[in-house]
Amino acid sequence: MNIITSNNESIKIPFNRFEYPNLMELVVDRYYEDIGECLGRGLCGTCHVKLIEGSLNDTKDLSETKTLNQVNYVDNTSRLACQIILDEKINNLTFKIITDHK
Ligand code: FES
Repeated sequence: MNIITSNNESIKIPFNRFEYPNLMELVVDRYYEDIGECLGRGLCGTCHVKLIEGSLNDTKDLSETKTLNQVNYVDNTSRLACQIILDEKINNLTFKIITDHK
C-alpha cells in the first residue's frame, strides 16, 4: 500500500494484516501525521484520505458518509482512514492524505 503524505511524499507502507485497528492508526503511529482527532470514532473527519489508485470494494456506512459531508475537498474517492481495515484488500492501493490546506 502507498500513502501520499500531507507533504506530498509518496511512501510505500509495509504492513501486517490487522497490525493496527485501522489505516489512520498506522499512519499516525509510523508517520506522525496530525490526523485522527476523534481517535477513530469516525466523527472528526481529520483522517480524510482519497483513494487515488486502485479500488476498494467496501461500502461506506452512513456515519462515515455523514462525517465526510462536513469536511472540505470531498469527492467520490474520499474515505475516512479510521474506517479502513488493514487487510489484503488494501494491498495495492494508494491513498492520499487530505488536510485542510489542500
Ligand atoms: S479519526 Fe476522526 S473521523 Fe477518523
